[in-house]
Amino acid sequence: MGSESLIPMPPVELRLMVSTPEPDYFDNPNGVPIIASVPLDAYATVFDFGCGCGRIARQLLQQNPRPRRYVGIDTHKGMVDWCRDNLTPVDSNFQFFHHDVYSPVYGVNNSLKLAEPFPVSDEEFSLVIAISVFTHVYKEQATYYLSEIARILAPRGVALASWFFFDRKSFPFLRDGPFCLFTDELDPTQAVIYDREWFLDTIRSCGLSVQQTFYPPMPGHQWNVWLTRRTPNAVDEFPRGELGAEWLCGTTQKPMAKVAISNAEKLKVENFSEKNKGRLYSTGPPVLTGPVVELAAMKAKLNETEMALTATRSALEVVERSWSWKIGRAMTLPVRLLRNRFHKFHAD
Ligand SMILES: C[S@@+](CC[C@H](N)C(=O)[O-])C[C@H]1O[C@@H](n2cnc3c(N)ncnc32)[C@H](O)[C@@H]1O
Repeated sequence: MGSESLIPMPPVELRLMVSTPEPDYFDNPNGVPIIASVPLDAYATVFDFGCGCGRIARQLLQQNPRPRRYVGIDTHKGMVDWCRDNLTPVDSNFQFFHHDVYSPVYGVNNSLKLAEPFPVSDEEFSLVIAISVFTHVYKEQATYYLSEIARILAPRGVALASWFFFDRKSFPFLRDGPFCLFTDELDPTQAVIYDREWFLDTIRSCGLSVQQTFYPPMPGHQWNVWLTRRTPNAVDEFPRGELGAEWLCGTTQKPMAKVAISNAEKLKVENFSEKNKGRLYSTGPPVLTGPVVELAAMKAKLNETEMALTATRSALEVVERSWSWKIGRAMTLPVRLLRNRFHKFHAD
């Protein structure tokens, strides 16, 4: 067992939050460069946007060469704390920052902001990694973060970002938008799918260009896009139109596309679906979702207030019918008559 294996492994509950929890996915026991197509010198300074519980950081700590500086940021405070407590002690050049912006699942208790600048300087990083992050952010966030990537990339730096794509033009009823599709009513950022044309326009306006594009392992999954700072004669290596259309979200699985999971993994998925059948696909009427839940809660509160009001009214009626109330009223009658006269006198 090599000394590298002493690097702590994130607990399974954190691993489950970011990916498939198998430890292998977080490991790099042979110390090989974690992304085959990246030149070795690009690993010098690495910025990991949406670092989660340190999956990539851990692999980079094991990698030869190890980056001389690594910065990871994430909205999930618990995961960032874990990385700080467990990975920074392995190498103090690996730093983690809590990105205090709202995220419906990963940052519910964070500040109610959608974005803030990356906590690093301009042109500082030779490699920026954003795996499975743009798949979880709103369009305005995506635009902002692309411009932040352009800001922090070194002049010859590269950025790897993964995306779900669709073609808006395949939806004839969509006019001026939307440019992204959400797949979940309760958590819109559960999986966000971007229009290919919007993506290209946006990266261009942020001062980036596409150096290379890799199709996903199966249609509709994440595309890996390599971005660089835009130069005047940049040509974007990004397929559009018919090119690559069979890899978009919503395409039928053509025979040429091979499903990239093993039989063992398929079996696991089937077992999971079988075990969770009742829970995943309820047979009863659908439960309320989204804003309807809030409306229902407001209505219940209103009902409660109305009931309290009715109870108070009945209590008042009881008091008004009591002898003590009637005697009290009779005794205070002269005072009330005097007061009424006084008011009338002033009104005249
Ligand atoms: C699917 S996980 C991927 C984690 C990591 N990139 C990996 O590949 O293991 C998505 C991560 O993005 C983070 N995230 C979501 N929105 C974010 C935002 N606006 N800023 C920073 N991180 C964000 C989540 O907290 C989560 O850790």
